[in-house]
Amino acid sequence: MKKIEVLLTNEKYNIYIEKGLFESSGKKMKEIFVGEKITIITDDNVNPLYGEKLKKILEKSGFEVNTIVLAVGEKNKNFVTLNRIYKELIKFQTTRSDMIVALGGGVVGDVAGFAASTYMRGISYVQIPTSLIAQVDSSVGGKVAINLEEGKNLVGSFYQPKMVLIDPDLLKTLEQRYFNDGMAEVIKYACISDKQFFELLVSIENKEVLDENITEIICRCCEMKKKIVQKDERDKSERMLLNFGHTIGHAIEKIFKHETYTHGEAISIGMYLVTTQSENLGLSQVGTAVRIKELLTKFNLPYEIDKKYYEEIRNEITNDKKREGRSLNLILLKTIGEGYIMRIPIDEVNKFIETFRKPITIERDVYDNSINDY
Ligand code: GLY
Repeated sequence: MKKIEVLLTNEKYNIYIEKGLFESSGKKMKEIFVGEKITIITDDNVNPLYGEKLKKILEKSGFEVNTIVLAVGEKNKNFVTLNRIYKELIKFQTTRSDMIVALGGGVVGDVAGFAASTYMRGISYVQIPTSLIAQVDSSVGGKVAINLEEGKNLVGSFYQPKMVLIDPDLLKTLEQRYFNDGMAEVIKYACISDKQFFELLVSIENKEVLDENITEIICRCCEMKKKIVQKDERDKSERMLLNFGHTIGHAIEKIFKHETYTHGEAISIGMYLVTTQSENLGLSQVGTAVRIKELLTKFNLPYEIDKKYYEEIRNEITNDKKREGRSLNLILLKTIGEGYIMRIPIDEVNKFIETFRKPITIERDVYDNSINDY
């Protein structure tokens, strides 16, 4: 079994990764939790597949277990769902020494983690991610949140889990589209910090080879995330690199009301679009975008969007929560495997969502990449 230790200033926890690990969830829980009551928070897609099974496994280990089943989907990551969770926790007489287990994808992990961070000023929680996107990214690092009508993740906190249990076998029930959705985040990691990993992904020839390598792929992403989170738990510097493709991606998700594109599909378009433009601006090595496009295509991920949406994307970005004052932190690549943060004036954002027939020049002194001196 692979064990990755996340060492933070005030706490530490382990990520365990192994095929078949789900069956040992009760045993692993006993190692970190001495209380009695566990509330599983899951959704109505995951519950019939793994919720009932997990309840039995935990009960067999002597825990008293309650399950809260949420309606599936990003649109339910809101105050109404959160309020229902609080009420059910109270009904189950959950105390500060009890625990929550988030069993599901990113949405479940975010809302269950946020409930854990706020219920009675904070109770313990464990992540058991069931989607690839959650296994490689959202279950690690303690970002928990809910959405407001005005935007994604606008209310949240940094609240680390007590443990993350990753069983790649759980991905067997994941629809192909959602597997590919997770591959977009995998590609993101390769783009921002590991050229060799990018080449490994390029070399995967078919589904069999991918299945053989999936545990290794998840481990490498979790290792990269752990390193980044250890250096910058609160997303003030290096952690922002994880937002490669996300500024445009979040805008696309919002314009399409989180329905047309999955998160991974939206950030795929974001990664390609921003790199095409940064090449045009002389900020990325020429040829970087085409390599990203080839890899995205391999996993059936989109890389472009009708230009008629560019204006809306620009408008959304200027409202993005990452904007500080009149500037925006945009993540760019020097080349594959080398991400960097570029602080740009908000009025310059149009230059990154345009179609240029030929390279144009920019005033370099209005850009600031000193933020990369982590
Ligand atoms: N998913 C981005 C982060 O955890 O910072």
